[in-house]
Amino acid sequence: MNRSRPEARILMCRPEHFGVTYIINPWMDPQRWTRDENALAATSHREWAALHRTLIEAGAQVDLIPPVPGLPDLVFTANSAVVLDGKALLSRFRHPQRRAEEAPVEAAFRRLQGSGLIDSIRKLPDGLVLEGAGDCVWDQTRNLFWMGYGPRSDAAARAVVEQEFGATVVALELADPRFYHMDTALCPLTRGEVIYYPDAFTEAGRATIRERVAPAHRIEIGIDDARRLAANAVCIGDTVLLSGCSLAVKAAIEARGYRVTATPLGSFLRSGGGAFCLTLRLDRRSAEARAAVGESAA
Ligand code: ARG
Repeated sequence: MNRSRPEARILMCRPEHFGVTYIINPWMDPQRWTRDENALAATSHREWAALHRTLIEAGAQVDLIPPVPGLPDLVFTANSAVVLDGKALLSRFRHPQRRAEEAPVEAAFRRLQGSGLIDSIRKLPDGLVLEGAGDCVWDQTRNLFWMGYGPRSDAAARAVVEQEFGATVVALELADPRFYHMDTALCPLTRGEVIYYPDAFTEAGRATIRERVAPAHRIEIGIDDARRLAANAVCIGDTVLLSGCSLAVKAAIEARGYRVTATPLGSFLRSGGGAFCLTLRLDRRSAEARAAVGESAA
């Protein structure tokens, strides 16, 4: 590991104001949350702190965006923007409950720009909805975005992402309301393996994944692992961080030379989010950008 530089630069938001206060996906049940509010809030703080610590141990440097009262889902920073090559394309949310995040997210990115972490900030054309890296998962090996559309992001946003970043975007329709963001169902690992839940996609989507990902690189998971958000993982170098998974999936990942670190995030699963949702990579670079500064594409 290159000690002079962090392995990953990640944006997070402390769960001070996290909770389940409305319903915008099938995981969310405000009544159940309220019944146990104090204990669940305390658990969310502990779980978030453990994730934060584990990310740092894995070599990440974490930047924080300030939490805002009344915006419980701001904690899911993956949804705030698509970031590649120093450029941030700010999100527009499907649901009014999350639209209120757009202003504080923009302010946070202006600050990141001020500190030199982000070079440029872009906005979506009027009327288009795209929920950030949650629906635009960067695949470093294939030098492309896996984009999910339907529940939260518009298919038409694909052309905008392609144009803004000059990158290939493979857009797949999401077919199961429980897996409403791409990152809930698909996760590329450092060396090209892809963890995914096939039934989250249409037949056409599954065919596209099989075309793009060689059999030896496919780590297909079943519904029990999908419901634990095992595909909502953060991969930093050889470390795969996730809320939880079965022994079989752990073994499949470890057989490829990774270390699986489970850091339970049950309180966030009640909102439909896991490890990946709680993070946003600020340091993703395309092969073209890396070539321009003389880095290898590996
Ligand atoms: N409650 C949030 C929502 O429904 C969870 C977002 C999870 N984030 C993600 N990237 N999948 O919007």
